[in-house]
Formats: sequence, structure tokens, C-alpha cells
Amino acid sequence: LKNIHEIVDGMSVGGLPLLQLLLAVQDATPQNYINETAVNEIAMLLKIPRSRVYSTASFYSEISLKPRGLHIIRVCTNAPCENAGKERVLNEIEQELKITVGQTTNDGLFSLESVNCLGACYMSPAIKIDDKIYGNLEKNRVTSILRNLREEVINE
Ligand code: FES
Repeated sequence: LKNIHEIVDGMSVGGLPLLQLLLAVQDATPQNYINETAVNEIAMLLKIPRSRVYSTASFYSEISLKPRGLHIIRVCTNAPCENAGKERVLNEIEQELKITVGQTTNDGLFSLESVNCLGACYMSPAIKIDDKIYGNLEKNRVTSILRNLREEVINE
């Protein structure tokens, strides 16, 4: 609860879009999601109905109401990425992490999602991990990215 108060206090709530606040709260949550307590707190702090917080959180694919991994991997499935090797990239991720789209690894480190476009079509095939876009993904590149991320977490 303290975190949410701090986030809200640190932002200009007056003109703050609800989506922006939800994203900030979600980013501050290790499991990358908005839980019921957060919904209640946000509604109370912004003096809006809980239903409005829920409907906004449900509408945007960037927001999750279920716990997810520490790192969110988003694979673009739109035509340019599809034609440039999205299936190979997705297979690499699935083999490395032993999960499919919509799942989270058992260690809670990664969740795998699909998106329509990342706005990085010029470097297809592209994926996004958290806030960073990775493009022009050659064979085995994504495997080494994921191994590096896992090592970083282990060494922290
Ligand atoms: S089509 Fe993949 S990033 Fe736009």
C-alpha cells in the first residue's frame, strides 16, 4: 500500500491518466500485475469507482490482473515479423523457457505474451522484453538474450 501512495504522491494526479498510474503501479510490483488491493487503493486515492479501475485495467493488454513473471516477453505476430521469422524466434523462446504464449516460467522469471505490433516493423522479427525492443533477431540471438537476463537475476 505504501508503494501505491508513494507512486500517486509522486505524480500529478490532477491530470494523470488512469492508464499511466496503473502502468506505474504494475511496474513497481515484482509480479508485474495489478492486484485487488491496488485496484481498491487507486480507486480510493483518485476518488473514482473501482469498476472504472477494473475496466481500464482489463481493456489494455499492457495491464495484467494476474501475477506474471519478473520479465515480460512480447512477441510480435503481425505480418512483417511473421514473414521475417517470428515463428523461429517464438520456437527459440519456447524451447529455452519451456513455456508457450500466455504462460509464466516455474521460477517466475519470465512470462511470454504475443502482441500485434511493437512499432518496430523496420527491424523485424522483433520482440520486446519489459521496456526494451530487440530486433533483426538472428538465429540463437534470443536464446542468448534470455540466458543473460537469467544470469543477471541470479547474480543480483
Ligand atoms: S510488425 Fe512486428 S513490430 Fe510491427
